[in-house]
Amino acid sequence: MDLNSSILVGLLGYFGAWGLIYLQKFTRSLQDPPGSTYLTSGSEQFHWKYPTFHSVAKNQLEGRLPSNIGVILPNLLEFYGGGNKFSGPIPVSFSNASGLQKLDLSSNNFTGFVPVELGTLRGLYILNLEFNQLGSGTREASDLNVITHLINCTSLKALSLAGNRLSGTLPNSVANLSTQLKSLLLGGNLIHGSIPIGIENLINLTNLGLERNLLSDGIPIGIGKLQNLNFLYLRNNNFSGKIPFSLGNLIPLLYLRMDGNSLEGSILQVLETVKIYLSCGLVQISSAVTYQNNSLVYPHY
Ligand SMILES: *[C@@H]1O[C@H](CO)[C@@H](O)[C@H](O)[C@H]1NC(C)=O
Ligand SMILES: *[C@@H]1O[C@H](CO)[C@@H](O)[C@H](O)[C@H]1NC(C)=O
Ligand SMILES: *[C@@H]1O[C@H](CO)[C@@H](O)[C@H](O)[C@H]1NC(C)=O
Ligand SMILES: *[C@@H]1O[C@H](CO)[C@@H](O)[C@H](O)[C@H]1NC(C)=O
Ligand SMILES: *[C@@H]1O[C@H](CO)[C@@H](O)[C@H](O)[C@H]1NC(C)=O
Ligand SMILES: *[C@@H]1O[C@H](CO)[C@@H](O)[C@H](O)[C@H]1NC(C)=O
Ligand SMILES: *[C@@H]1O[C@H](CO)[C@@H](O)[C@H](O)[C@H]1NC(C)=O
Repeated sequence: MDLNSSILVGLLGYFGAWGLIYLQKFTRSLQDPPGSTYLTSGSEQFHWKYPTFHSVAKNQLEGRLPSNIGVILPNLLEFYGGGNKFSGPIPVSFSNASGLQKLDLSSNNFTGFVPVELGTLRGLYILNLEFNQLGSGTREASDLNVITHLINCTSLKALSLAGNRLSGTLPNSVANLSTQLKSLLLGGNLIHGSIPIGIENLINLTNLGLERNLLSDGIPIGIGKLQNLNFLYLRNNNFSGKIPFSLGNLIPLLYLRMDGNSLEGSILQVLETVKIYLSCGLVQISSAVTYQNNSLVYPHY
């Protein structure tokens, strides 16, 4: 179904009157294996069930979103358009819907860049743009500079840009993102350089996914200060050096994957604390913990 049809624009107007638009089509089940880090699965915090507008989502929607979408829907609060076949750029005008809190355009075919103007949305709570074709795909780019523009979004709880073609380095301003942030998912891009030390400021982080990039250098010791981490996915990068012992402090850690790097040592050497905790407090699941190639996977429960 082509969204350019006047019927769809009419529908957007009709449902937009309530400020909520659900055009989400599930592409993955919530039971997906824990090896995947994206917002629609993984941690309990983000096991959302999206209301789906079936009569629209039955066919996958395609075409471009109207470039003036945020101007014609100024009261938009939530826009869920994941799992369709939308293409073209993400309309900059989403920033004109100044109350927008949740924007999910995941699993489409959007191209171009993440509009930096989204950073003017002070109430932005969830920004999920994972699994599109965003970014330049060229090494010299600075596609991640959009992060600098999101630092005024002080309510931001979840940011996923995973599974795109974003290149360049992770800016130091990642440290200035909201301390409310629980999920930062940037895996499956072309990000190089090192993890900024300031990432330790994001003390509420529960899910950190940087897997399948070109990141290098050492893993910052300060990651051990992120006491709420459940998912730490660093696999398939070019990290080197010793695995910081501080990771042993991460008691709630449920999924840790660091395989596919050039790290020295084994996570088993640094996770004594976790093992002790397991053997004392959670005996019933400890036998199911699997370990392979610097990956420690606790069973899903
Ligand atoms: C939309 O927002 C941009 C800034 O992001 C602003 O320059 C423009 O004037 C706004 N347009 C309308 C119609 O409000
Ligand atoms: C995505 O867009 C590209 C061109 O921009 C096109 O070649 C490709 O077929 C599209 N994929 C899907 C799944 O629509
Ligand atoms: C954040 O807000 C401050 C105060 O309004 C403003 O000066 C600054 O330019 C904003 N930063 C960004 C990146 O939008
Ligand atoms: C970002 O945070 C650092 C401290 O971590 C601070 O020095 C810097 O001024 C902040 N930048 C902005 C733009 O707020
Ligand atoms: C961490 O998250 C909790 C719960 O959302 C919130 O109450 C708290 O203010 C956050 N901490 C910081 C430093 O933002
Ligand atoms: C991996 O990192 C090393 C330095 O630690 C560097 O020499 C090498 O070029 C990097 N490889 C890739 C593919 O980026
Ligand atoms: C562990 O690493 C070995 C050697 O690199 C490889 O053959 C094996 O498939 C890896 N196992 C997993 C589960 O990734």
